[in-house]
Amino acid sequence: MNGLVFIEIEKFAQSRLGDEAWREIVRLAGVPSRIYFRISDYADEEAVALLSALSARLKEPVAAVLESLGEFIVPDLIMMSRYWINPEWKTLDLIANTEQTVHQMLRSEGSYNSPPRLQCRKSGPHEVIVRYDSPRKMCALAKGIVSGLAKHYEERVAITEPTCMLRGDPACELIVKVTSPAP
Ligand code: HEM
Repeated sequence: MNGLVFIEIEKFAQSRLGDEAWREIVRLAGVPSRIYFRISDYADEEAVALLSALSARLKEPVAAVLESLGEFIVPDLIMMSRYWINPEWKTLDLIANTEQTVHQMLRSEGSYNSPPRLQCRKSGPHEVIVRYDSPRKMCALAKGIVSGLAKHYEERVAITEPTCMLRGDPACELIVKVTSPAP
């Protein structure tokens, strides 16, 4: 998993628990204490261990932590991909373009391991369906990112997940509907 995710887990933990708590999370997780770099990749198991420790420390389920993390990282995601984001885009446009532009650009830069492959299709004038399938099964992160994008663009969205890998389905489907401002 790319270093960006680890950097953001650390920033998120510090924002929720204070600077000192990170050392405790690392100790609880049983992972090496290190400085993470955006251009490096680290083991997925290390992210899972850190997220589990954070979940224990916050007394929140891992899925809830991932969702809050997703929302938290949006300003940094937008900042790092600002040259690829069309200023006219809103929430649904960015989601629909993530795969072909943002994730694809990251892959072609070569410094990123494997941002998940998302398939998006418009299912109505104000609705998209995102199909997410990744061995990491981090749909909660995707949901948090969607909520964070809506916040960024000052829109409201309703997200439903009719299928989910965590419930044994082959892929997760997120139906994202913009409910306000009234289009
Ligand atoms: C500005 C936009 C975005 C940027 C810069 C971005 C960047 C990244 C990066 C760098 C990773 C780590 C990949 C790796 O280590 O292999 C990642 C993972 C991920 N991204 Fe994105 N992303 C963006 C938008 C989105 C959106 C809109 C969604 C969902 C709707 C999404 C869903 C995910 C998920 C679920 C992961 C977890 C890794 C996995 O399942 O394999 N991302 N993203």
